[in-house]
Amino acid sequence: MQLRVTSLPGDGIGPEVTSEAICILEEVATGFGHDFELDEKEIGGVALEKFGNPLPDSTIQACLASQAVLLGAVGSPAFDHNPRELRPEAGLLRLRQELGAFANLRPAVFYPPLAACSPLREEIVKGTDLLIVRELLGGLYFGTPRSLEGVPGERRALNSMRYSEPEIERIARVAFQLAQTRRRRLLSVDKANVLECSRLWREVVSRIARDFPDVQLSHMYVDSAAMSLVLKPAEFDVILTENMFGDILSDQAGGVVGSLGLLASASIGGPVGLYEPVHGSAPDIAGQNVANPLGAILSVALMLRHTFRLPKEAECVEAGVISTLRGGFRTRDLARPGERTVSTEQMGSQIAEFVRLAANTTGRAVS
Ligand code: IPM
Ligand code: MG
Repeated sequence: MQLRVTSLPGDGIGPEVTSEAICILEEVATGFGHDFELDEKEIGGVALEKFGNPLPDSTIQACLASQAVLLGAVGSPAFDHNPRELRPEAGLLRLRQELGAFANLRPAVFYPPLAACSPLREEIVKGTDLLIVRELLGGLYFGTPRSLEGVPGERRALNSMRYSEPEIERIARVAFQLAQTRRRRLLSVDKANVLECSRLWREVVSRIARDFPDVQLSHMYVDSAAMSLVLKPAEFDVILTENMFGDILSDQAGGVVGSLGLLASASIGGPVGLYEPVHGSAPDIAGQNVANPLGAILSVALMLRHTFRLPKEAECVEAGVISTLRGGFRTRDLARPGERTVSTEQMGSQIAEFVRLAANTTGRAVS
């Protein structure tokens, strides 16, 4: 099979973690007999420096010409005072729009070897295996009007939360379909006791539920969901929510399972899928070869599953991650005091090695 991927390493630790993820893709391609074609382009702060634009046309063109995009991270303190359209984050938000990626899937899984990493007691976090389905192209992130104006001391800022029925319906269908492939429980998170957007959200999600009688739907307000996520994370299956609530709850889910560095994401729904770790550019540790590449590597697994429909290859990468954690390999974010740590590259190589061996024994025979 042909795997045409554009990689956008971006800022901070983005290039380090992306480079490990690409090695894994190469290993999968070799081991399972696929043809891997890679194009690398700029986004975020690096694109701003080179082209004065956080999402140059050349990047959009390359992404649209490929089947999937692997992104590292965007964001750099150097641009903190730039106007909104000239910040690195604007490049990512526009890319999501250009790719029509309205459905953002963020799984959070508890790995038993990392029991000591979670701030929660093992009996509470054990068994956690949830999927946040975050609406990615609506709500406060994109709503207009938006502005920040006035003279200092009397400035006013405005953002608009907007949702239409079709926007809610399409993300709800994705979430219900995913719930059908899991434990068939869907929790829709909103703030329907206060917001009109949430009242509409709840109504539409309840209506769509009739098309999925095998999925058990429940609703929760976002504040209560945030509390439940730390009190009983293992009870969640699929969480469906709007853009901003999903942004917040997914970082919280990262904390619950032990490190945001573990979380991967898939942004799908358009013609080209976008895959990126949930973590940011972490400028404080950039260039030190200490960042955790697992979020990026697990994003490759999501790419193999959702864009290329190669579940065996995806499972192989995930098995590599689990085996590496079981082997005691820990990047700095995962290590307990006194534990030995490995570098970004060592962590990546370990998983690449697993994929190489696993593909040789099963790959060509089964695919
Ligand atoms: C995320 C990030 C982005 C978001 C930022 C970098 C724009 O926090 O993917 O969760 O808010 O969506
Ligand atoms: Mg976020």
